[in-house]
Amino acid sequence: MAVLTLSVNGEPRSANIKTGTTLLEFLHDYLEMTGTRCGCEEGTCGACTVHLDGRATRSCMITAEACAGKRVATVEGLAADGRLHAVQQAFLSFEAFQCGFCTPGMIMEAAALLNDRKPLTEARVRLFMEGHVCRCGMYNDIVKAVLSAAKEPKHD
Ligand code: FES
Ligand code: FES
Repeated sequence: MAVLTLSVNGEPRSANIKTGTTLLEFLHDYLEMTGTRCGCEEGTCGACTVHLDGRATRSCMITAEACAGKRVATVEGLAADGRLHAVQQAFLSFEAFQCGFCTPGMIMEAAALLNDRKPLTEARVRLFMEGHVCRCGMYNDIVKAVLSAAKEPKHD
């Protein structure tokens, strides 16, 4: 066991963790930040997606120790100044979820995609989002929501 401190949503967060603890376990189990979902734990469903130095990252596939010195951002930190992020608002407006299990990972992936500032086509949205599993089959509404959010002038 060893104490590890990571920057999570701009705040230092510490936990006494076992060697090999994944970033997902650090967030979900040690910090009890359950917005980051625990799905397959083998990198295939996308439910655990967070931002690591601004890039969408599957938190089940990296150890917490490997994130030392990097900025971790989770869905809990996406809203700012009392306002939802454009992607969060678009998911609500388009009702792009049903059970909501996949939603935080989808939103974090989409938020990172919008931060790329590259022109966003439907094909590009589908390419980035296709690695995320939605058991409720909300894919078409999710794509519409992301394309709508991309029209907002400021995403972060
Ligand atoms: S829980 Fe990490 S990709 Fe499924
Ligand atoms: S909304 Fe239920 S898994 Fe996607």
